[in-house]
Amino acid sequence: MANKVMMIAAMSPGRIIGVNNGIPWKCRTDMQHFREKTLGRNIVMGRKTWESIGCVPLKGRQNYVLTSQTFRTTSSVRLIRSVGEVLEQVKDPVIIGGASLYEQFLEYTEEMYLTEIHSLFGISPNDKTTIFPDFPYTMWEWDLIDQDRECDIFHLTRMHSGMGAQ
Ligand SMILES: NC(=O)c1ccc[n+]([C@@H]2O[C@H](COP(=O)([O-])OP(=O)(O)OC[C@H]3O[C@@H](n4cnc5c(N)ncnc54)[C@H](OP(=O)(O)O)[C@@H]3O)[C@@H](O)[C@H]2O)c1
Repeated sequence: MANKVMMIAAMSPGRIIGVNNGIPWKCRTDMQHFREKTLGRNIVMGRKTWESIGCVPLKGRQNYVLTSQTFRTTSSVRLIRSVGEVLEQVKDPVIIGGASLYEQFLEYTEEMYLTEIHSLFGISPNDKTTIFPDFPYTMWEWDLIDQDRECDIFHLTRMHSGMGAQ
């Protein structure tokens, strides 16, 4: 299957995408953007992210959960077993997290939406933070597509040789 992989993520300074298996901010602009960009699509998430959303599928989207485990789901959720299975079986997958999926799918991704969250929140030494993988920022073309007091939303497309990539 010829596939175009897309990723969508929101992060605060330090590329923090999660704290204690949850997201420590609530940003309406980003939530609306996430909904717009994922509705009607095949979304793929890791098992921990699935648990973090209460094991409830996101409506209006075909939900895939990447896991080595077996558990019961409804018909709008499918379990999938490997990165290769996602690439072969899921049409134009949208990777919605968490960090382990962003890390594994980055090399196959041509397009990303990244939201930079401005809001501050406290993190204590015992908190477990989850970080978006480091990636070569200059190899991507960044377009600011939306902005408000809470966040900046960027659309990134991978640059190929001849487009300024080094
Ligand atoms: N800010 C954002 O945009 C955003 C988006 C999504 C999630 N998050 C946050 O990210 C955090 C979770 O991220 P995470 O990295 O800890 O977990 P995760 O990526 O959501 O899930 C990890 C799990 O996915 C399964 N998995 C991963 N790769 C696999 C592979 N190649 N084959 C089979 N199964 C595989 C494994 O499940 P099994 O152990 O069941 O095998 C693994 O334990 C939470 O804090 C969440 O709130 C933030």
